[in-house]
Amino acid sequence: MAIQWFPGHMNKARKALEERVADIDVVIEMLDARLPASSANPMIARMTRGRPALKILNKQDLADPAVTALWLDWYRARPGTQAIALDAGEKAPSQKLIAACRELAPNRGGLDKPLRVLICGIPNVGKSTLINSLTGRRIARTGNEPGITKGEQRILLADDFELFDTPGMLWPKIEVPEGGYNLAASGAVGRNALDEEEVVLELLQYLARHYADLLRARYRLDTVEGLQDFELLEAIGRKRGAMLGGGRVNVQKAAEIVLTDFRAAAIGRVSLERPDEWRVWEKRAKEEAARRLAERQAREAERTGKAKPPRE
Ligand code: G4P
Repeated sequence: MAIQWFPGHMNKARKALEERVADIDVVIEMLDARLPASSANPMIARMTRGRPALKILNKQDLADPAVTALWLDWYRARPGTQAIALDAGEKAPSQKLIAACRELAPNRGGLDKPLRVLICGIPNVGKSTLINSLTGRRIARTGNEPGITKGEQRILLADDFELFDTPGMLWPKIEVPEGGYNLAASGAVGRNALDEEEVVLELLQYLARHYADLLRARYRLDTVEGLQDFELLEAIGRKRGAMLGGGRVNVQKAAEIVLTDFRAAAIGRVSLERPDEWRVWEKRAKEEAARRLAERQAREAERTGKAKPPRE
């Protein structure tokens, strides 16, 4: 699935981030707890490699708690990395966040060595909601302050704790196809960038495999097992009265119902990926990319070879 989702202003955001990273002690990346790996920005990973990192698995209220626990372990096993799960209902998120950052940079702190923390994440991951809650809705003004770029905010969470907020940022190319579908299902990718029906079919396939009981209960289906993804979508459409004339199912309407339900966790708390699955998807995507590159190089070699004058 080709997704076009890298608008021009993202380049500016990337530049601003590159400049900021130089004097940062800890990088917080906000991830969607339902799709942590898919919602991680590989560009940010490259730019911040080697820095102490705090992963916030946000919207945990929508995700499968058992799977969130797997992801927390997976991130905590990385060197210099901490991970916490959060949601907008958290009463005092700043305590958790500050404690995790101080642990990651124990040598910083005090007025002469304030802890400088960068927070980033893809659009819609819940960053503004969290920052509003951290600041009690008193958003720090920025843009005109010296040393602060336009669109960036500096928030003082404690006298010696500065949080730099950058605009939500995407990356140019989604390498792992399953990651693309998951981002689309979560609503992180704009409507025009994707084929909604294709996204929903992928989503249903995954839900049928891992959360068949929840699907059956939500849509009062007799069975989920043995149904192809498209048959499942039609069955849901029929149950929900999404019909066209002549007894045909309105597939687009049915797809919208499923997407809306998933995003609001009306199907239940579900996660769209687990660490062991992600490993397989990532490996497959890398192999596929290598195969495409080899093919391209072979074609190129053939083309330039033919263009050469024949040898004596
Ligand atoms: P962003 O700055 O990263 O782009 O995201 P933002 O905070 O604007 O949040 C995007 C959407 O996600 C908002 O919903 C917000 O309410 C919701 N959200 C944020 N954190 C959480 C969370 O922990 N759990 C859940 N369930 N939702 C969360 P919206 O529909 O776009 O707006 P609204 O309903 O708040 O008006």
